[in-house]
Amino acid sequence: MEQKTLLPALSCIIFFNLLCFAMAQEPPACQTTCGSLKLKYPFGTGAGCGSPTFQPYIACEIINKDQKQQQQLLLTTHTDSYPITSISYSTQTLTLTPPSMSSCSSMQPSPSNFGLDWASPFQLGRSTFILLSCQPPTSSLTLRGSSGIPVCDPSYSNLCASIYTCPSVVGLGLPLFPPTNTCCVYSPGNLDSKGELDLCGLKCAGYTSVVSLGDYPTDPARWEYGVTLKYSHGDLDSGIVDTKCNSCEMSDGVCGYRVDDLSFLCVCKNGYNTSSDCNNNFSPDQDLFWGSASNLPPAWKMWFALVVFWEISYSCFDLF
Ligand SMILES: *[C@@H]1O[C@H](CO)[C@@H](O)[C@H](O)[C@H]1NC(C)=O
Repeated sequence: MEQKTLLPALSCIIFFNLLCFAMAQEPPACQTTCGSLKLKYPFGTGAGCGSPTFQPYIACEIINKDQKQQQQLLLTTHTDSYPITSISYSTQTLTLTPPSMSSCSSMQPSPSNFGLDWASPFQLGRSTFILLSCQPPTSSLTLRGSSGIPVCDPSYSNLCASIYTCPSVVGLGLPLFPPTNTCCVYSPGNLDSKGELDLCGLKCAGYTSVVSLGDYPTDPARWEYGVTLKYSHGDLDSGIVDTKCNSCEMSDGVCGYRVDDLSFLCVCKNGYNTSSDCNNNFSPDQDLFWGSASNLPPAWKMWFALVVFWEISYSCFDLF
């Protein structure tokens, strides 16, 4: 190719590359993952995403873990921010791993209470609190204002015996193989009128919470630790939103809401929003560009764009 034709050809390619770049979709308004967690309604990662009743409590943040930056979904309450380690959309439950929660591998005194906000859509689920390093006798532990209902359930004392075999109990200021009369299984657990597990009031130095014993009821090193929460959508029109949201998610959209009036929005991949679903909407901009291709599924648009791009590139070469 001669010098004379090389330049226009190059600029032609650059021009169409730029065009493609401009066409490339902007970063999506609503994320569908945070770290390894898959996010669906009612969870969202920012204003306008997910459910407006969840948004004040849920955030996807970049944290440093093992000297690597990664995304972590957090639930924030009046007491702390808690990493969310799993979400089950079918059972409407999630699991938290509070940083101040002990486990067999690491026990630590908890200076802060575990707490939830009463007004939030989150409630304690079915995990089992084990209060650690409490002032004996634990049989007399009661919650403030609960007219003396005992907190500890002695029928679970086997769990105390097991967790106290973990060598990390020394982290709580206990000797190895401590007497189990300083341990207390609080199940079903409850939060006080401030929405807190008041460790200080209960005179316990720490706590753990067990999601499941798995197949190893006597091996605390293999238990699954975490606090299980139930969540509810709680909105008056949640039935309508659930139906709309279903068809939005089926059409590869993300459920969200209008920031001004909190009404339902389906946020589609191509950067437009609709009150129905992404299969079924007409945005003037989109139609102008894609014409009759606008009702093709997104994968087809990608291929279409690719083919068009190649054809234009080749015709550029032919021109010069
Ligand atoms: C679509 O909705 C999302 C979330 O509510 C918002 O961030 C975005 O700006 C909206 N886009 C348009 C084009 O209105």
